[in-house]
Amino acid sequence: MSTKHFLYLIFKLLFVLSLFFCFSTANSTDNEDKNLMGLVSTCYSCHGTLGNAVGNMKSLNGYKPEKFVSKFNWFLKKPYNGGVMHTIAKGFTEKEIKVMANFFATQK
Ligand code: HEC
Repeated sequence: MSTKHFLYLIFKLLFVLSLFFCFSTANSTDNEDKNLMGLVSTCYSCHGTLGNAVGNMKSLNGYKPEKFVSKFNWFLKKPYNGGVMHTIAKGFTEKEIKVMANFFATQK
């Protein structure tokens, strides 16, 4: 095999590898976005799209992350009084609550 041919093969291999890495990272961010949208879209029916509430409902856009987390913990701790957030808060892990807190904090 000539050196030229060998180099050509190496480049071809590198090209295929770089394509592979492009697609594998693109997929992982797509999935993270989908997971995030799955989490927060459940809130939109009451707190408005992207947290922009209509009427008397509390907006979640621009909500302080620390306040968000402490509100959730409060909903979890308080005895059931018929409030919807008590039940809703139970459906999320600590990590998911943080992810949502950071998401709504960045919404305008
Ligand atoms: C079925 C309607 C409904 C849905 C869905 C809903 N909420 Fe709520 N949320 C409320 C109501 C009503 C309150 C007022 C407190 C209460 O009655 O429990 C509230 C209060 C809150 C508060 C406290 C606001 C404040 O400053 O007092 C936060 C934070 C919150 N919701 C976050 C969320 C998040 C995040 C989701 C999605 C995972 C969500 N809510 C989904 C109805 C809803």
